[in-house]
Amino acid sequence: MSYENILYEVRDSVGILTVNRPKVLNALNPETLSEIGHVADAARREGSIRVLVITGAGDKAFVAGADISRFPELDPLQARRFAQLGQDVFASLESLPIPVIACVNGFALGGGCELSLACDFIYASEKAQFGQPEINLGIMPGFGGSQRLPRLIGRAKAKELCMTGEQISAQEAWQLGMVARVLDPETLWDKTMETASALAEKGAVALRAVKQSVDRGSEADLRTGCTLELDAFSTCFSSRDATEGARAFLEKRKPSFSGSFTE
Ligand code: COA
Repeated sequence: MSYENILYEVRDSVGILTVNRPKVLNALNPETLSEIGHVADAARREGSIRVLVITGAGDKAFVAGADISRFPELDPLQARRFAQLGQDVFASLESLPIPVIACVNGFALGGGCELSLACDFIYASEKAQFGQPEINLGIMPGFGGSQRLPRLIGRAKAKELCMTGEQISAQEAWQLGMVARVLDPETLWDKTMETASALAEKGAVALRAVKQSVDRGSEADLRTGCTLELDAFSTCFSSRDATEGARAFLEKRKPSFSGSFTE
């Protein structure tokens, strides 16, 4: 499929999705969201993609939010449909069985901040800015921000960000636990791809197990979470990778993981 609002390519099992509307700082209109959703569906179907990286075109923005130019025409039902589309697409990304890395090269505001929060972790440029500025438009986050943000950084700080609409630096986002790494803008892309390539070589079953255990467990009480971990841990042993990993260690060689299950 050819895309009009995003770029998508696969390099050595790493899918690279670039939101590509630099004239409007990569703002998300419904067409862009649908194209992102299409990539998520393809990544879910095609076992050959081991990691997905999401970034924004240009050096100014990751994504500066939902496309505000569409807002004046929306009635409540249309606004709900738009938010539902954004929520569905971000939930689809979040539930992918592979790691999804947000490479935040500039503004990650509103829907852009929410998109980055739906990824497994964020690598951000020192120049990146995060925020939920919807309040300044007389509205609120609608693509999951009022839910993912408090779960990640706590209710008080999430409410402060959503109520004031203030932007925070990548460094502050890192201190809050939103961002995994803050990097020099010159090295951001290479470091992101280095990590993506390293993850592409890990065991796919174990990666999926980690992702599901952390995501599902963090929604549950500790006892339930630990039971989920038991399930995920034991699932790893149905993969050939568990045998290969231990053998490779004992034979003092690099493991070669296939992601396949034992018969
Ligand atoms: N939707 C639609 N267009 C957007 C946009 C958005 N979310 N964010 C930026 N743009 C457009 C601007 O309208 C401008 O278009 P123009 O060149 O036709 O005038 C272009 O992108 C460049 O943005 P500009 O505002 O001139 O850049 P800046 O460096 O002065 O400011 C921002 C950058 C990110 C601070 C500013 O663009 C901004 O506040 N954007 C909106 C952020 C927001 O509220 N997001 C949540 C939406 S729900």
